[in-house]
Amino acid sequence: MKTHVLRPTDKNIRVLADCINGGGVVAFHTETVYGLGADVFNESAVNEIFRVKGRPADNPLIVHVCDGAQIAEVAESIPPLAQKLIDEFMPGPLTLILRKKQGIPDCVTAGLPTVGVRMPSSQPCRAFLKACTHPVCAPSANTSTKPSPTCARHVYDDLQGKIPFILDGGNCEVGLESTILDVSDEKPRLLRAGGISKESLEKFCGMSIETVRSSTVALCPGMKYKHYAPKADVYFSSYYRDMSHGICDCYDRLVSSGKKVVVLCLQKNIPAYGERDVYDMGKSYNSYARRLFAYLRKADDCGYDAIIAEGVPSKGIGLALINRLVKSSGGRII
Ligand code: TXA
Ligand code: MG
Repeated sequence: MKTHVLRPTDKNIRVLADCINGGGVVAFHTETVYGLGADVFNESAVNEIFRVKGRPADNPLIVHVCDGAQIAEVAESIPPLAQKLIDEFMPGPLTLILRKKQGIPDCVTAGLPTVGVRMPSSQPCRAFLKACTHPVCAPSANTSTKPSPTCARHVYDDLQGKIPFILDGGNCEVGLESTILDVSDEKPRLLRAGGISKESLEKFCGMSIETVRSSTVALCPGMKYKHYAPKADVYFSSYYRDMSHGICDCYDRLVSSGKKVVVLCLQKNIPAYGERDVYDMGKSYNSYARRLFAYLRKADDCGYDAIIAEGVPSKGIGLALINRLVKSSGGRII
C-alpha cells in the first residue's frame, strides 16, 4: 500500500473522512501528537489500529470528538464537574475518562466500563473530525514503544506502507500527549500528566487532585508498557542547581567506554557542556516538551548510543516531561 501525505485542504480532508467512514485507518495531526484513527463503531477498523501499531489489546484508545454532541454519543453521563471541565478546557489537550455508553465496542475501551474522550484544538483535526460521520478513536500514530510522532515524517517513518493517508498539519504545538483526568467517579484523579497542567486543573476544580502512580496500572493500562523509547539508551538527570556537572561526568564516562553521546539541554545551559555534543531544546520547558520526541528520534538517526536529558522542575509541563523521560530512560536516572 502506498502512503500518501496530504496537506489539510478541503478536498484532502474529504478524502481522509471518506476513508474513515468506509472503514479505513488514517493518521492525522493534533496539537499534542499525531493520532492513528478509525470510526469508533467499526470494530474491524479499530482492530486494524492495534495490528498496524503492534499495540497490546488491553490498552484502550482515546475517542476524539469535534463537539459536545459527539461526547454525548460515547459517554453515558456527564457529571457536573466534567461538564465544567469540558466548557473550560475543550477543545484542547485534555482527555476526560467518563462512564461509557453501551454500544461502544469493547475493543475501543479494552473492556473497561469507561471511555477516554478528547476534543483536539488543531484546526485541520477539527475539520477532519467534523467530516467524519462518527467520533474517531485513536492512539498516538507511532509503532508501539517508539516515541510519539510530532510531525508527519515521524508517522511516515513508522507506518509507511501500512496506512493509506497521513493528514499533515505540520509540527505539533504541544509535543507531548494530552493530560488524562478520570472524572468517572466523585473524586477526579490524574492518570497521565500532559498538555494541561495539574496546577491549572486544581485551580479550576478548587481542590487538590490525586496523581495515580503508574504502579496502579489497571487504571490507565497504557502506562505499564515500555514507552517513548529510542534505540539509544536514555539517561535522565535529576533536577538540581549544578546538574550540568553530574551530566558532564556521565557523558565523559560513556564516551570513554566508546559510546557516542548527546545531551538534551535548555539553550541557556549550552555553554556548561563545553565541546560536548548537545541538542538545543529551546528557551523554555514548553519548547523542551515540543522538541523532545523529535530529538529522541533524531539522536537515533544520527547514530548516538546514549542520550542524557537535563532534569526539569516538577511543575507545569515539567510534570509531563518527567513522566515521559523517566519512561524512556527505563529507570536510568542520574
Ligand atoms: O494527546 C493524546 O492523548 C494523543 C492524541 C493522538 O490524541 N493520544 C494518545 O493516545 O496519547 P495513546 O493511545 O498513545 O494513549 C492513550 C492512553 C493510554 O495510556 C490508555 O491506557 C489511556 O489513554 N486510556 C484510554 N482509555 C482509557 C480508559 N477508559 N481508562 C483509563 N485510561 C484510558
Ligand atoms: Mg501512545
